[in-house]
Amino acid sequence: MRTFRLSGSRPLFFAATLLLTPVATGDSAGAQEFPPDAVKGKAVYERHCLACHGAGGRGDGPDAAALTVPPANFHRFKSFLKSDEELLRTIEHGVVFSPMHEWQEQLTETERQDALAYIRQLVQQGH
Ligand code: HEC
Repeated sequence: MRTFRLSGSRPLFFAATLLLTPVATGDSAGAQEFPPDAVKGKAVYERHCLACHGAGGRGDGPDAAALTVPPANFHRFKSFLKSDEELLRTIEHGVVFSPMHEWQEQLTETERQDALAYIRQLVQQGH
């Protein structure tokens, strides 16, 4: 019969992972050092998002008419009620089978957060 032996370092590694896990997941929303900047977000939005989502975020940009899947209208409750995290995930990874592609390569995390801050501002101001 064989006895099962753990190597010396493994239990320590497990203990360290258990200790670190709550810290690593608990603070994921605060990855950015400063609050998102809607002014910078406006520039990002106008350059990369406006063509589809429209100047006011109503999904009526100049390219929208040519798309089979309409761009999201951020004023609709469907979008408005989603959490920042959820929308940021969409911006990062895109939406499958839709013209909304992923932005994780083209934009930094800060730029994506700024763009969302600008979108929230558009909706708040009722543009
Ligand atoms: C080529 C057109 C196009 C461009 C450019 C584009 N989007 Fe989109 N976007 C879409 C479409 C289409 C959808 C809706 C997909 C669906 O839900 O079916 C969408 C959905 C979204 C959603 C999800 C809304 C929700 O309610 O879940 C967010 C957030 C978003 N876009 C942000 C952005 C941002 C930020 C940019 C610029 C960095 C951008 N989009 C650029 C077409 C575009």
